[in-house]
Amino acid sequence: MELEQRPEIEALMAERRTFPPDPAFAAQANAQAGLYEEAERDFEGFWARLARERLAWDQDFHTTLEWNLPFAKWFVGGKLNIAYNCIDRHVENGLGDKVAYHWIGEPGDTRTITYRDLQREVSKAANALKELGIGTGDRVAIYMPMIPELPIAMLACARLGATHTVVFGGFSSEALAGRITDAGAKLVITADGGWRRGKPAELKPAVDHALRETPTVDNVLVVRRLGEHANIEMVPKRDHWWHEIVDRQSEDCPPVPVDSEHPLYLLYTSGTTAKPKGILHTTAGYLLGAGYTHEMVFDLKPDDVYWCAADIGWVTGHSYIVYGPLANAATGIMYEGTPDSPTWDRWWQIIEDYKVNILYCAPTAIRAFMKQGEQYPAAHDLTSLRVLGSVGEPINPEAWLWYHEHIGNSRTPIVDTWWQTETGMILITPLPGVTTTKPGSATFAFPGIAADVVDANGEAVPLGGGGYLVLKRPWPAMLRGIWGDPDRYRATYWGRFPGMYFAGDGAKRDADGYLWLLGRVDDVMNVSGHRLSTIEVESALVDNRAVAEAAVVGKNDPITGQSIFAFVILRGGQVGSEDLARVLRDHVARVIGPIAKPKYLMFVPDLPKTRSGKIMRRLLRDVAEGRPLGDVTTLADAGVVDVIRSNTGKTEE
Ligand code: WT7
Repeated sequence: MELEQRPEIEALMAERRTFPPDPAFAAQANAQAGLYEEAERDFEGFWARLARERLAWDQDFHTTLEWNLPFAKWFVGGKLNIAYNCIDRHVENGLGDKVAYHWIGEPGDTRTITYRDLQREVSKAANALKELGIGTGDRVAIYMPMIPELPIAMLACARLGATHTVVFGGFSSEALAGRITDAGAKLVITADGGWRRGKPAELKPAVDHALRETPTVDNVLVVRRLGEHANIEMVPKRDHWWHEIVDRQSEDCPPVPVDSEHPLYLLYTSGTTAKPKGILHTTAGYLLGAGYTHEMVFDLKPDDVYWCAADIGWVTGHSYIVYGPLANAATGIMYEGTPDSPTWDRWWQIIEDYKVNILYCAPTAIRAFMKQGEQYPAAHDLTSLRVLGSVGEPINPEAWLWYHEHIGNSRTPIVDTWWQTETGMILITPLPGVTTTKPGSATFAFPGIAADVVDANGEAVPLGGGGYLVLKRPWPAMLRGIWGDPDRYRATYWGRFPGMYFAGDGAKRDADGYLWLLGRVDDVMNVSGHRLSTIEVESALVDNRAVAEAAVVGKNDPITGQSIFAFVILRGGQVGSEDLARVLRDHVARVIGPIAKPKYLMFVPDLPKTRSGKIMRRLLRDVAEGRPLGDVTTLADAGVVDVIRSNTGKTEE
């Protein structure tokens, strides 16, 4: 792991303008500056107070935190149910008719789902799960498009204390099979398919394919979304239509109280090996963290319309489309489609139509909108917007300023929120109405969170210095482990700097103490806010018969943040060509999913390696980005890079 001097960092920090909170906004803001101090004085007391105020408990907890480094238990002794907290209590509090989701389907169909609707649908779905043999502690895999049955399925699991694992619909059947097997799922919930840019896209065939190698699955529950537009097979006894089995269930399904530390979900994410990790999140601390940050960071008000434009298949959707907003009885938008279909103003039309107050999206989307031009947002009334959020990757000042000016009308605060699948909740962010922002900086740790930047020895760097981002104390929504692999959990997150959680990100603190996230310092890439491992893509390439060896790096990309650049050594007798490059890209799509296809693929005769045989990705990154080479003294054969550089076998998709 190497901390690099990346040239873009200076450019990132060159923007010197600051944006103090607007006094009128500050006067009405949910967050107050005093929160930082309260949380620092007694951070356990801070979270305990919030847990008692914000969650409905079936049984109070007796211990706020049991910290057996690196294993945390929060709110020990407590019992509660997440579906009850996210739905039933709101209905009991007179909010049954409040809209939980305005769902917007890709071909233009819409559905409005109130909290009462959610209570009924989740109860029926949970009863159906029971009929299919699912109970507390079982694992359920969910592989679905962005349709209302997706959060309904998640909440139905939570109602029973079953643990869900949502697999993003863009992952391949092989990736799905790997996750089902690792989780030991008994049931898969899916759909015949979904809509993508005006066209039907089937999902169920990928499930059928995956299930050929997953003996733990007994049943498949299938939502009909495409209907006559799909041509799928239903396997007798194993496959059940949602509308047949769910619709006939009772609307009454008592929520099952579970322990605070009961496993709520697993979400697989890429690390520095070929095998994705099942990140485990549990019940009480997770819900508290997601809900509280959602209310504070977005300054959520009771009548707001909130839109997180992520896919529920990623953690952003889990925490900020499902659990956080529903814990707060928020009204959210759920959109099935893409930003460019039918035209590039689709989002702005939705914001105008639904009078959206809060928008949360990724810098990749903002940069894509920038490229299309401000005429698209300018044609719509966006004055309902009050807070804008950014997540998933560093936001460059240029994109920040464009977002501020053209979407926020130079008026709304922007919250650049740093967090991870592992952290479960936003950890570094401005608080709107409190924090003076700097474009490109995620500013400060959330109240109660101890973030720091350390050098290679784990010593805090002085203001102005760069290093590794660490967290020095546990937080309620933190991952509780990697499914089935406590040693890997300890080694990955707590092994690099003793006693500290190592996030895998580089960071810098400026003279004013602001945090600037600099991207991953390990072998993890971030493509359009999607997290991918270089080694995962390499092993997918080597899995093809034509390939002898492969090395993959993330290349800076003006739109997607990073793009995948693969260097490929072919087996003897194979000749590089555009056709073979296409075959290899398709192969990667089949093994992992289309998001992992290398944008650049170069056939090379050799790879730069150290004398101990380790591929020097740093040099490959220099080549990919057309930079002068860094230090080559540790190379076993210094001539290799020149050969690669003079290579003409680069293909681009
Ligand atoms: C990685 C985590 C957070 C949910 C979506 C991604 C990068 C995330 C920011 C930000 C700079 C960011 C980090 C992190 N990242 N947010 N605001 N500024 N970088 O979750 O897939 O687990 O990826 O995304 O590198 O480690 P994830």
